[in-house]
Amino acid sequence: MVKWVIGNWKMNGLSGSLEEAAKIAEGAGAHSASVVSMVCPPATLLARMAEKCAGSALSVGGQDCHAAEAGAHTGDVSAEMLVDAGAVAVILGHSERRTDHAETSGQVKAKTEAAWRAGLTPIVCVGETEAERDAGKAEAVVEAQLAESLPDILPAQQREDLIVAYEPVWAIGTGRVPTEADIAAMHLKVRQHLEARYGQPGRTVPILYGGSMKPDNAASIMKIANVDGGLVGGASLKADSFLAIASAGATAANG
Ligand code: 13P
Repeated sequence: MVKWVIGNWKMNGLSGSLEEAAKIAEGAGAHSASVVSMVCPPATLLARMAEKCAGSALSVGGQDCHAAEAGAHTGDVSAEMLVDAGAVAVILGHSERRTDHAETSGQVKAKTEAAWRAGLTPIVCVGETEAERDAGKAEAVVEAQLAESLPDILPAQQREDLIVAYEPVWAIGTGRVPTEADIAAMHLKVRQHLEARYGQPGRTVPILYGGSMKPDNAASIMKIANVDGGLVGGASLKADSFLAIASAGATAANG
């Protein structure tokens, strides 16, 4: 099975970073048979990065979108605008948006439908806080986020319909990673949810792990059952570490 390595650059990157993306694009070709590589830069870099990476094995995505197609929404970007800029996917419901912008699962659901309307692959993020895990509520929290963030009907699109990313909030940017058993247990829960919800198509929706994925832990994480790749923050900013993770993905895909 193919693995996915998707870089989330968050609020990082200026014009000079396009060179780094070009290096990622050049190196991604070596793994393109078994790894889908993507970078989601800030909106300001999207169009230029898409142009720079055109024809390469690296695609680009957005980090958020508004649910509406256009209108009086100062500061927002629509899914159609992301497509216009060259995006093929969009990250939705990242925990930083749920926290910084009080984004609800209901809003994430509307944005997921907007992504489909525009022809983008939504990458829907879920994950528990440390307090929720300590209270033994991790699986219930993720289950509720999935129930409320995902629309009931999966459309049949040309490209990937949907990607889900499990990102435990306490593992993001901390260097802390759940045990392999905990990742396996949560990814199985997500898979069961997707199958119960969507039937056969739910079996192939990629489920990515995110949270302190690095070159040295990527291969072992991506070998876990129901882990179809990684959503990578800090380690995706440099070509060396992005490509090392892509290489680990190829190992996991072929192993
Ligand atoms: P880090 O890889 O920096 O922990 O970030 C993960 C993340 O939030 C990706 O969306």
